[in-house]
Amino acid sequence: MSTAGERPTPRAGVLDIAPYVPGKSAATGGAKLHKLSSNETPLGPSPAAVAAYRAVADKLALYPDGAATALRTAIASTYGLNPDRIVCGAGSDEILTLIAHAYIGPGDEAIHCQYGFLVYPIAIRAAGGTPEVAPETDFTADVDRILERVGPRTRVVFLANPNNPTGTYLPFEEVRRLHAGLPAHTLLVLDAAYAEYVRRNDYESGMELAATADNVVMTRTFSKIYGLAGLRIGWCYGPAHVVDVLNRIRGPFNVSAPAIAAGAAAVGDRAHTEAAASHNERWLPEVTARIGALGLTVTPSAANFVLIHFPDEAGRRAADADGFLLDRGVVLRRLEPYGLPNALRMTIGSAEANEATIAALAEFMDAGSLS
Ligand SMILES: Cc1ncc(COP(=O)(O)O)c(C=O)c1O
Repeated sequence: MSTAGERPTPRAGVLDIAPYVPGKSAATGGAKLHKLSSNETPLGPSPAAVAAYRAVADKLALYPDGAATALRTAIASTYGLNPDRIVCGAGSDEILTLIAHAYIGPGDEAIHCQYGFLVYPIAIRAAGGTPEVAPETDFTADVDRILERVGPRTRVVFLANPNNPTGTYLPFEEVRRLHAGLPAHTLLVLDAAYAEYVRRNDYESGMELAATADNVVMTRTFSKIYGLAGLRIGWCYGPAHVVDVLNRIRGPFNVSAPAIAAGAAAVGDRAHTEAAASHNERWLPEVTARIGALGLTVTPSAANFVLIHFPDEAGRRAADADGFLLDRGVVLRRLEPYGLPNALRMTIGSAEANEATIAALAEFMDAGSLS
């Protein structure tokens, strides 16, 4: 019998979790909106993906294929992988959460980097574990600092490569050194959400390591270069024993029928993916250089966004810039939750959005120098 005032309470630690705050999607001014706050692609999804999505509208009464076979087959064909070693989910967020719930429990530890993607500490805590934070050097993951934190209770190491929100990456030699330094019972999760954008000779997403090592999983997403963030599709590639574990605990129909159809079409449209990568390759250096020329520090990025640092002076801080930009229709990402209160993250957008952002930042810096 229930007593007045009593109610169900969550497990210890759940209420210590700060909910994830997504990037804003609205501006304050009446100007045209340029949403550059969530690392979405300005090219949108492949038209083939949109057509495949629409075609499923007539069959919504039916459950999807719980094994997401068409999607896993299409991913395997594009990336040259074994479809049996792929698990799909509702965004890579779901995959990361599944990994945490399967491998981390109360009393366990898992490591993420100082400015690592915020879903890692949420997933670790939600599973009952304790996040161990490895300091970064120059806003970049530091293998020695990660390895120093590894102990007998370390179950998982989460590494985003490139990382969000810094845009920095670890050369693959460093990832190999990290893996070589981990005990066999520690799972290394290589989150390669931005891999398709990287144009660096010393970068690898981790596919081969995930194919050959017993304790490495690579996660990927359809939310970034494939332009399907609204559909929620992510996947991972890993050893058969990890795939088996994730398949046991995931929801039986965790990827919807429209997501399976659109994702399979998107990953097959290589020309569209290449166009998105080329657009980024053209704009990333230009945005970095032109914002740097305004007197702002931009962390060198290998992804589809840049981290912009503001002067620590009254009226010129990131929060001031954010308000100024919002009035001009430009929405960037505030980074207080990441411990970067004086920086904003800008996604590489369309030519028009990039130009509007650079012009607004130039105006902001000019206004500051006059005051
Ligand atoms: C590093 C990183 N991993 C994973 C994700 C999650 O992506 P998804 O939309 O697939 O859940 C993001 C999205 O911002 C990200 O930046």
